[in-house]
Amino acid sequence: MKPYYEEKGITIWCADCKEILPKLSDVSAVVTDPPYGLKFMGKDWDKGIPGVEFWRLILAACKPGAHLLAFGGTRTHHRLMCALEDAGWEIRDCLMWLYGTGFPKSMDVSSAIDKALEVGRVEIGRRSGRTGPAVQPNGGSVYSDDNYQWPGEFSITNPATEAAKQWYGWGTALKPAWEPIIMARKPIEETVARNVQKYGTGALNIDTSRIEYQGDDDKSSATCQGKCTSKPGALAGGTQHEVKRVDFERPKLKGR
Ligand SMILES: C[S@@+](CC[C@H](N)C(=O)[O-])C[C@H]1O[C@@H](n2cnc3c(N)ncnc32)[C@H](O)[C@@H]1O
Repeated sequence: MKPYYEEKGITIWCADCKEILPKLSDVSAVVTDPPYGLKFMGKDWDKGIPGVEFWRLILAACKPGAHLLAFGGTRTHHRLMCALEDAGWEIRDCLMWLYGTGFPKSMDVSSAIDKALEVGRVEIGRRSGRTGPAVQPNGGSVYSDDNYQWPGEFSITNPATEAAKQWYGWGTALKPAWEPIIMARKPIEETVARNVQKYGTGALNIDTSRIEYQGDDDKSSATCQGKCTSKPGALAGGTQHEVKRVDFERPKLKGR
């Protein structure tokens, strides 16, 4: 099989990952956006979460200590986490991609009640929604499916029955606003100190990912009351209640 792209040390394969992964080795890091199992737009590829066999193949291609970031759905990431763990990955953390532009898919309970009672509602106005091809928060179109259009206009109706009035304003789903990103690591060989030196993997470059302080106020707010304090010995197993807090100098960090 020929790579889809191969230049300047970058190789892109465009194929079923189950065919490609066994050919790969010494992978240092994985960032992946697998199917979420939400049956997205009725797509066949989204009917399930990739199971243990996928994550085992990825694990086998990676160096010890390699980190993996896998995006997941808010309703299905528990299955993703279990599959990763069952395949031998260590779950290390869960990051969040936050956004405010998600398109709500909530059922209008009040309308559903009137519909079930077969009572028509009177339209009192219209409001516009998004039009055109569905777009992602980053501006890209959703999986290049240009046939999919967001509804352009919505009816505004008043509840017709007493029951519908009572449930006016209720829905069944929150507006999508975040996606979990599972952070996992392939078990290290012996110790982190040995692993990082032998393979160059196993640790995170924390200093390069700090969010720079926006000014002195921001810097002081990064520590409680602008002070750094510690209880000596507490971390070494001392009794926290019996020792006094001591101030220490703020570490010279660029950001949070
Ligand atoms: C959540 S989507 C990723 C979308 C992408 N991040 C984007 O923003 O356009 C999951 C993708 O996994 C692909 N996929 C599903 N099964 C696969 C497999 N066995 N090998 C490779 N890709 C697969 C699907 O075709 C789909 O494009």
